[in-house]
Amino acid sequence: MTRIALLADLHFGAHDPALVSALEEDIALMAPDVVAVAGDLTYRARPEEFTAAARFLGGLGLPVVAVPGNHDIPSLSLFDRFLDPFRDWRLAMGPEMEPAWSNAEVGLLGLNTVRRAALRKDWSAGRVSPPQLQRLAVRAAALPGRLLFVVAHHPFLHPPGNETRGKLGRAPLALAAFARLGITAVLTGHLHRPTVIANPGAPLLVITGTAVSWRRPPGAQNAWSLIETAERGVIVSHRAHGPAGFAPLV
Ligand SMILES: [Fe+2]
Ligand SMILES: [Fe+2]
Repeated sequence: MTRIALLADLHFGAHDPALVSALEEDIALMAPDVVAVAGDLTYRARPEEFTAAARFLGGLGLPVVAVPGNHDIPSLSLFDRFLDPFRDWRLAMGPEMEPAWSNAEVGLLGLNTVRRAALRKDWSAGRVSPPQLQRLAVRAAALPGRLLFVVAHHPFLHPPGNETRGKLGRAPLALAAFARLGITAVLTGHLHRPTVIANPGAPLLVITGTAVSWRRPPGAQNAWSLIETAERGVIVSHRAHGPAGFAPLV
């Protein structure tokens, strides 16, 4: 059995230190094999926010598969945004923005959906390119016999109640590619509210919440998600923060 901790939208710079400690404790308790981080590590893509995020993730002592989110490229300095949007990410997290991890049972494949600009008003909604999907097919083929998980920031479908959010560019193309490649589940964030979308014949779409940021939508708890492999597929449980710390979301 493999256990994957799915974190997203940590938003260091807009985080609660008490929640960071509670999250560290809960991750140690649940003992995952690997940590998937589905973007938005920072609030304003400031170097000190990246440093705090990298320190936290490094302190977990686990393999980390982290991809950027729309908050991880500069929004205030257009000069930095266009010239080298991932510079501070690379300095803190290393050069790879589509990392991978595998064991004998599962493979995690990072996919960077963040774009510095778009031919539409909402830059934050991101996009996938056909070459990225072609590379994903090659990367998936290099991991035969594994349950495959894609880790990306933006959801490929939005759950009910999020109809007004900007949609990820080329999401239908990506979903068709994921189905063709036999991807088991797609692990994302961005909405700050945990949910799972299951459709027959399609990969499970797992969207997790924000575990440590106060940037919660109304009525949402701080949350992260645990994905465990089982005899037939995977089991997803969201762990939400309450008075006694993190516990299964009911
Ligand atoms: Fe976010
Ligand atoms: Fe986001």
